[in-house]
Amino acid sequence: MSESALRVLALVALIAHNAAWPQDPVARLHIKHREVIGQRFLGNESHVEHFKLLERAPTSIFIGARNAIYNISLHDLTENHADKRVLWSSSEAHRELCYLKGRSEDECQNYVRVFGRQGPDRFLACGTNAYKPLCRQFKIENGIYVAEKDTEGRGLCPHDPQHNSTAVFADGQLYAATVSDFSGGEPLIYREPIRTERSDLNQLNGPNFVSSLAYSDYVFFFYRETAVEYMNCGKAVYPRVGRVCQHDKGGPHAFGDRWTSFLKARLNCSVPGDYPFYFNEIQSTSDVIEGVYAGNRTQLIYGVFTTPVNSIGGSAVCAFTMDSILRVFQGAFKEQETINSNWLRVLPEKVPEPRPGACVNDSRTLPDVTVNFVKAHPLMDDAVQSYFTLPVITKITFNYRFTKVAVDPQVKALDGKAYDILYVGTDDGRVVKALNVQAPNSRENVAPVIVSDVQVLRYGQAIKDLQVIHLAGEASKLMVIADSEIRAVPLHHCDSTAANSCVACVVLQDPHCAWDATTNLCVAVPTRLHDNDAGKTLYQDIVNGKHKGCGYEEELVKPTQTVMPPRLGRGEQPDDRDNEIVIELDRENPFGRTQPRANEPQGVIVTPVVYSAQTLTGALLGACLVSLVVGFASGFLFSQRLRSAPYPDPPEQRQQLNRLTEGPDSPGFNNKSINLVLNVNPKNPNGKNANSSAENKPMQKVKKTYI
Ligand SMILES: *[C@@H]1O[C@H](CO)[C@@H](O)[C@H](O)[C@H]1NC(C)=O
Ligand SMILES: *[C@@H]1O[C@H](CO)[C@@H](O)[C@H](O)[C@H]1NC(C)=O
Ligand SMILES: *[C@@H]1O[C@H](CO)[C@@H](O)[C@H](O)[C@H]1NC(C)=O
Ligand SMILES: *[C@@H]1O[C@H](CO)[C@@H](O)[C@H](O)[C@H]1NC(C)=O
Ligand SMILES: *[C@@H]1O[C@H](CO)[C@@H](O)[C@H](O)[C@H]1NC(C)=O
Ligand SMILES: *[C@@H]1O[C@H](CO)[C@@H](O)[C@H](O)[C@H]1NC(C)=O
Repeated sequence: MSESALRVLALVALIAHNAAWPQDPVARLHIKHREVIGQRFLGNESHVEHFKLLERAPTSIFIGARNAIYNISLHDLTENHADKRVLWSSSEAHRELCYLKGRSEDECQNYVRVFGRQGPDRFLACGTNAYKPLCRQFKIENGIYVAEKDTEGRGLCPHDPQHNSTAVFADGQLYAATVSDFSGGEPLIYREPIRTERSDLNQLNGPNFVSSLAYSDYVFFFYRETAVEYMNCGKAVYPRVGRVCQHDKGGPHAFGDRWTSFLKARLNCSVPGDYPFYFNEIQSTSDVIEGVYAGNRTQLIYGVFTTPVNSIGGSAVCAFTMDSILRVFQGAFKEQETINSNWLRVLPEKVPEPRPGACVNDSRTLPDVTVNFVKAHPLMDDAVQSYFTLPVITKITFNYRFTKVAVDPQVKALDGKAYDILYVGTDDGRVVKALNVQAPNSRENVAPVIVSDVQVLRYGQAIKDLQVIHLAGEASKLMVIADSEIRAVPLHHCDSTAANSCVACVVLQDPHCAWDATTNLCVAVPTRLHDNDAGKTLYQDIVNGKHKGCGYEEELVKPTQTVMPPRLGRGEQPDDRDNEIVIELDRENPFGRTQPRANEPQGVIVTPVVYSAQTLTGALLGACLVSLVVGFASGFLFSQRLRSAPYPDPPEQRQQLNRLTEGPDSPGFNNKSINLVLNVNPKNPNGKNANSSAENKPMQKVKKTYI
């Protein structure tokens, strides 16, 4: 049976038996879009801006947009110095050239994507510049930023504002992971003048870059790519962390413009089991968070992972320690000795000295054998395992996927423990607030709680970035960035009418909120500076969501399980809440503006969708059974036919094996594919240009191998 069918079966089995599968927690609080309060910034409403956060200063942010850079105040999301806005359009000549290449007017604009600060009064920015990337040095003169110098931006900035690229400025130099060509077919990791090898699938194989960061001596890149080491039929995408040394000077001789330190490893975000269920498509990472988990101080990075776009919608957030990432790069390398052999661990005696990929003072003096080895063996044998034994949170639903996670780190609760609070953005415009209430106690027990589910943006608008903002003397807030809208919303909803009783307030399990028994209000706890006396009248229970002070009798079941069932407030019917996935839609105007933007579909009719968990499981089981039966029948017929037909030539067969990386559609020996039609409702009724190619596929191909 094919791997993808297996994966579906494994998932169904896991969910059906509810064995190791972490129960998808139910949000305690749902907040509809029309109830969302907060400031917003829309930029120029006559077109899609493709907002990109460039720099975050203490009280302002720099936002790259279409032909402009906005300086936005974090106090109220208004533009600072709108009269001195940095305007940067493509030249007429570049635009003409872009039209000649067949691009649309919206594409032939300059979208600012990349930023590096070189001093208090100067910075470097790069933009798509009508499909001819350009970098520009800016300098402040009389309070206005003026252009100083233009340089070529190819390899530093994508051509297309929607391309999945990343860049980070470290130690005065720009490190970028993007594509260097117009059609987007030549990926690279680049820091002038050093780059990854051209069209070497061992190094980069159809990557989608999601983030990058400078850490210690290294620059790390997080991305997903087609896995060269995946040896079964079809192809698989794996999440990766790649790494280069900041002081890599290139190799000796002819390798002067090639990395001597590029290594990569697989990330493992999965639900364990006989067949671990992998969330392979990394979408984003958080900043590096330092905290105390299970009694140990460590640095974590959280990542959002999903299933492929044409399969069951599954999302997860996993945490990795920076130590475990560093450790994997100290471990064994992986290799495939000949084109048909398996990928195996390289024996230590076969690794040359000095160790390939290590950071050295002058990489130009490295011996050839070391440089050749690292070029041929960029992949580490071990995967980076997630820190907690389970994803911190998982969600299986057809309605949305996670896109981005931001963390309010180490929020002190009244129990004296510190919790990382996760804000997870989705591709349908909601923000899910979640935490693992067991994180301070244990790595093995994971107890996810979803405090709230807030439809921050109009339904269907994907959240691209999230930032937690703490300003002195102001309520903290969450900044939500979409393509054409920036919003600031409260970090908590303690004052929501849904939390107006002691039980309902404590059941939120939100370290930000506590029940004040003197005023009978659910109040926000000033989490950063605790007054011990305040605790006397404040009720909060992060781990169980119950407090004796509320008059709760201890008649309810004591939580002993690893995975906690969602606790519900009084009068709530658990069945309804558990089994229904409801989307709230604002039907009059899905985009919330008076005029649709140029790129948006017009006059879409959206209808609310309600699935029940039973329907989903039923549909899945049905689909699996059908595919099993059809698979068996056609397999039987096919084997009958094969028996009477001569075997194909061996060389052809080998060729087929060699082409494993080329995707499931290569013709040849086993060309008989079965179409499994998954009845997946259109996910985004509004249509989303970014994913259209994948989502428009009417059916999912499942390729069968008969052994
Ligand atoms: C918005 O953009 C259009 C064309 O791109 C321009 O003519 C107009 O002046 C801009 N409006 C504002 C408020 O900047
Ligand atoms: C943005 O405006 C604020 C407020 O005037 C200023 O302090 C800050 O330096 C500006 N940011 C940049 C990058 O110029
Ligand atoms: C990933 O982690 C799971 C446990 O969560 C484990 O069973 C599996 O072997 C790991 N896979 C890899 C490739 O390390
Ligand atoms: C802390 O980490 C060390 C090594 O990483 C481990 O041996 C120890 O058991 C951990 N402590 C706790 C309380 O988990
Ligand atoms: C690298 O350079 C530093 C000083 O620049 C020196 O102390 C160190 O010994 C050098 N390391 C190697 C391996 O040459
Ligand atoms: C970029 O990432 C998004 C989100 O994962 C995805 O929908 C889109 O297809 C990717 N773009 C490309 C060109 O692969």
